[in-house]
Amino acid sequence: MIYYPLATLMLSGIQDVLLITTPHDAPHFRSLLGNGSQWGISISYAEQSAPKGIAEAFIYGKEFIGSDQVCLILGDNLFYGKLDFLRNAIQSNKGATIFGYPVQDPERYGVVEFSPDGTVLSIEEKPIQPKSQYAIPGLYVFDNRVISIAEHLKPSERGELEITDVQKEYLNLDALRVEKMGRGIAWLDTGTPESLLEAGEFIHAIEKRQNLKIACLEEIALRMNYINAEMFEIMLNHLPNSSYREYCIRVLNEFQSE
Ligand code: G1P
Repeated sequence: MIYYPLATLMLSGIQDVLLITTPHDAPHFRSLLGNGSQWGISISYAEQSAPKGIAEAFIYGKEFIGSDQVCLILGDNLFYGKLDFLRNAIQSNKGATIFGYPVQDPERYGVVEFSPDGTVLSIEEKPIQPKSQYAIPGLYVFDNRVISIAEHLKPSERGELEITDVQKEYLNLDALRVEKMGRGIAWLDTGTPESLLEAGEFIHAIEKRQNLKIACLEEIALRMNYINAEMFEIMLNHLPNSSYREYCIRVLNEFQSE
């Protein structure tokens, strides 16, 4: 699953990634992904000692972020489609940019309410009675103020630093932009067994139909020029014989004949 959020970031031009995970899972991610150099990116790691909320990411990530702006993607969120919207959001962000995506079950998510002219009226975390159908996907762009905003947050009733409280702070500062995500983008979340299965079926159907692979990081790295054909070939030599390796060989052949 981790390949999908990484693919989203890489396709949006991001090459410097901090992966925040539990102390239990960190060694597995480290051995699976390494330092990212095989894909021409840099992956570093932080361990969140207890599940104290998504917004804690900015406290763990303080040094990593430095004086930059930052994009946060949740590991169980999957985006498929034309990802220009994220690249544009990163380029034009002036405070916080988040997204609104209409779903049938908004009560499972952060929910944004708009006035008829599109102004943001409210943001609520998992409201029992949602004020709109617009869920907020786990993909956010924040300017550097996010660090001090996160540091000053108070835990919610469930004891977490809520990402929606960060968004509300930007709303209070009149620095929040919420873009409605178009129909061309599929946003799937894989946080429950059923939604994971549905996401798997969705990806499988497209991969089979088009005879391609989604979120093949080697392919993305090559096409984004994060690595060159030589590096790709070296990587190929380390892949075990598999249909995945066959696919990568095809990618390289196509790339070289373009
Ligand atoms: C989190 C956020 C929520 C957001 C959702 C997206 O919820 O708190 O605002 O809409 O991710 O997946 P979680 O499902 O992680 O509790």
